[in-house]
Amino acid sequence: MARRCCRLRNILICVCTPCVCLALLIIYVAVMVCLNMTVTMNSQLDLHFVAPGNVNNGSFAPLPKTFWKHHLDSDAFWNQLQQVIDYDFNPILHPRRNKARSPRSSVGDSLLGQSFAQVTIMDNMRKNFEHFPKQIQEFVRYMQKRNYPILIQPDGVCGAKAKEEREPPLVLLAIKTTECNLKKRQAIRQTWGRVGWVEGQKTNRSSEGVLGGYVRRVFLLGKEDNDQLSMDMSDFLKTESKHYGDILQWDFKDTFFNLTLKDVLFWSWFSRHCNRIHFIFKGDDDVFINTPKLITYLQSQLEKSQALNTLEDFMVGEVIGSAKPNRVKSSKYFIPDTFYKGFYPLYPGGGGLVYSGLLAKRLYNISKTVHLFPIDDVYVGMCMIRLHALPVHNPAFLTFDFPKNEGEELCSYHTILMVHKRTPEQIVSLWADMQRTQRQCQDVPLRSADKKINAEDRLVAAF
Ligand SMILES: *[C@@H]1O[C@H](CO)[C@@H](O)[C@H](O)[C@H]1NC(C)=O
Ligand SMILES: *[C@@H]1O[C@H](CO)[C@@H](O)[C@H](O)[C@H]1NC(C)=O
Ligand SMILES: *[C@@H]1O[C@H](CO)[C@@H](O)[C@H](O)[C@H]1NC(C)=O
Ligand SMILES: *[C@@H]1O[C@H](CO)[C@@H](O)[C@H](O)[C@H]1NC(C)=O
Repeated sequence: MARRCCRLRNILICVCTPCVCLALLIIYVAVMVCLNMTVTMNSQLDLHFVAPGNVNNGSFAPLPKTFWKHHLDSDAFWNQLQQVIDYDFNPILHPRRNKARSPRSSVGDSLLGQSFAQVTIMDNMRKNFEHFPKQIQEFVRYMQKRNYPILIQPDGVCGAKAKEEREPPLVLLAIKTTECNLKKRQAIRQTWGRVGWVEGQKTNRSSEGVLGGYVRRVFLLGKEDNDQLSMDMSDFLKTESKHYGDILQWDFKDTFFNLTLKDVLFWSWFSRHCNRIHFIFKGDDDVFINTPKLITYLQSQLEKSQALNTLEDFMVGEVIGSAKPNRVKSSKYFIPDTFYKGFYPLYPGGGGLVYSGLLAKRLYNISKTVHLFPIDDVYVGMCMIRLHALPVHNPAFLTFDFPKNEGEELCSYHTILMVHKRTPEQIVSLWADMQRTQRQCQDVPLRSADKKINAEDRLVAAF
């Protein structure tokens, strides 16, 4: 009887030990996963907006969520580079480092150099590099360099028209342009890009006068990428700068794949020179803006956000979710899967978006730990996801133009904040139309969610 008992105990031990071990392991994993989730959830609690229809549903690459997928995507060049850094900040692998609210902000860009050196000596990465298209190879060659000198900048101030302001400027218009696009700059200066005090939207109801705000402007430029350009543009540009005070130019080649550089260098300049700007509108030089409505919209956001203290995450535009890299070799957006794998994170279309001055400074800090990516608006999304901030979708930003013929209706331009792709001539005549239809259309509301085209349409339009 005693022996039987003993054997039973042995069997029990044999069977139970692995079970207990397994249970402990499961508990361990569960606790770790929970810890990770609380970290992300806590930082999202203070968000009051979520981009409709584009909520984080788990399909976002490339931020690693779990520690056991160590080799996921490791055969793509950019993912590999960034993984080295993201693992360094992973709350599970390094729980202590994540105690501070923004653990990445105090890090210099030395980490980028380290990961670059570590990855580029790998055999498979060298092989990848050899097969990249020329443009990507060129990008990779220079993706480490960010310290390009400023050639021309507004005279010691943050954008044109800093004088005679009686309160902090509401918005800085930061517009990406190139040396040769003088005509576009002129159209913008005459129309929606006027600086100084600008009135908000007029309505029938506002008898006690309309709200307004101070507007400043800066154009962002590199050097023209054209060796055959017969004349040197720099003298022209200096004269232009003296006259308008709104030119900010760096000494790098103004190519499509260098546009990300423009964002990062702008954030850097902004962090140093601009203290009191509430919002930044960042856009291309071929957009049309309904400035009075934008002013009114931003005033209302300012009231709301200051009350809720959420300005530091504020970014709004036409948000694109679950986008995939373009794999069509002839496209100017082509990204080989040996360079980047996975979805892109949520990002607002780069044609025109608005974010807070505070966020610009945080973006600058975080960008020191995010490798440059050839597509500028995607890079903004990559920085945002690492700040645990979500861009807000607003249907009044039309980076892909009006759906169908909606743009031809009398008041259609009064229902938007921004529309992409207009020539200088169109900008001038649209602006005149807006003044002409002002009285008839002044009370039409902004486009809202029900008129929104869905995410898939936007994706198709994007590529
Ligand atoms: C995530 O959202 C996108 C669109 O935003 C959708 O296409 C996709 O099916 C969603 N994925 C899941 C798992 O729900
Ligand atoms: C950015 O980093 C600098 C240096 O670490 C820090 O002083 C500053 O507060 C940070 N700014 C923001 C907005 O996080
Ligand atoms: C506002 O005024 C215009 C012209 O005076 C008028 O046509 C329109 O109906 C008014 N709108 C409202 C909501 O009162
Ligand atoms: C970016 O600018 C640098 C500096 O002018 C230039 O050497 C490099 O070729 C440019 N990169 C791309 C991808 O065009």
